[in-house]
Amino acid sequence: MADKTVLVTGGAGYIGSQAVLSLQRRGYRVIVLDNLVYGHRDLVASVLKAELIVGDTGDRPLLDQIFTDHKIDAVMHFAAYAYVGESVTAPAKYYRNNVVGTLTLLEAMIAAGVKQFVFSSTCATYGEPSEIPIPEAHPQNPINPYGMSKLMVEKMLWDFDRAYGLRSVMFRYFNAAGADPNGHLGEDHNPETHLIPLVLFAALGQREHISIFGTDYPTPDGTCVRDYIHVSDLADAHVLGLEYLLQGGATNAFNLGNGNGFSVKEVIEAARKITAKEIKAIATDRRPGDPPSLVGSSEKARTVLGWQPQYADLETILQHAWHWHQRRHG
Ligand code: UFG
Repeated sequence: MADKTVLVTGGAGYIGSQAVLSLQRRGYRVIVLDNLVYGHRDLVASVLKAELIVGDTGDRPLLDQIFTDHKIDAVMHFAAYAYVGESVTAPAKYYRNNVVGTLTLLEAMIAAGVKQFVFSSTCATYGEPSEIPIPEAHPQNPINPYGMSKLMVEKMLWDFDRAYGLRSVMFRYFNAAGADPNGHLGEDHNPETHLIPLVLFAALGQREHISIFGTDYPTPDGTCVRDYIHVSDLADAHVLGLEYLLQGGATNAFNLGNGNGFSVKEVIEAARKITAKEIKAIATDRRPGDPPSLVGSSEKARTVLGWQPQYADLETILQHAWHWHQRRHG
């Protein structure tokens, strides 16, 4: 597959940049398209050394130019806004970027004859689960515009397969966490809202404490349970998804998680052990829109794609994240 070129949108972001690394390690040529609203130019330039085109997925003339200038074999699409809370107060921003931007990208692909697409979807498309671990066949009823924007694209992708022969792999991520084991890439959101980086900021002394959003959930210790999946394992799944498509695989959707749930309190306790720091935790009110428990079954990705997560335990995920945050933010 070494002669193939992949356009990676959002390749300057947290998950996209890891996917670029995985693709490069497998010998693919990569072109990154990123508007740098949240992405990091320095990571693309100094760590990935990939070609970076700065622009939006909704910019059709730019897309046409990219597809004319380069022989692109497939697209991996990470570029999206992903703040659940913001999506509730500013839904237009999410539908414009995540849905209309993706539609524009898909139309440009079809016009250019590029028909293989790997899409970042989310477990947020399931909404409040009625079954744990959540299988792919679980009903999809998102409870926020972010999840809905991703579900709308999933629906489009099935229709685009039927009508235009554009084949897709849709990955529904659970909670992406951790960092490149070598410490070169990791999470750097601004603003940061995710549990693990915020806990580690508290360990670094950059935050006075971590807030626990709700201690009265119907879970064993009353705090929310999530399925944390290492970002390098997510990235590797994308390469497998791409190769599945390149080998003629049909449009398909896969969960990507470890199938193990950890509560907010368990994450904080594990971070205390790994960092050997006191991390002050204060219980506060629930954050609106948080389901009590989100744990996925990823048997399908294992069976169909041969995906085998390498860093499935929470300690390793936290260790890699800690290493990265000390380097980047310490
Ligand atoms: N949490 C805290 N304190 C914090 C931050 C988070 O207690 O300061 C809790 C949250 O309430 C939640 C858990 O930690 O129970 C994990 O929260 P994150 O914000 O790290 O992750 P989410 O589960 O909210 O979000 C993730 C992805 C989203 C995706 C969502 C699906 O980041 O993109 O899962 O629900 F949409």
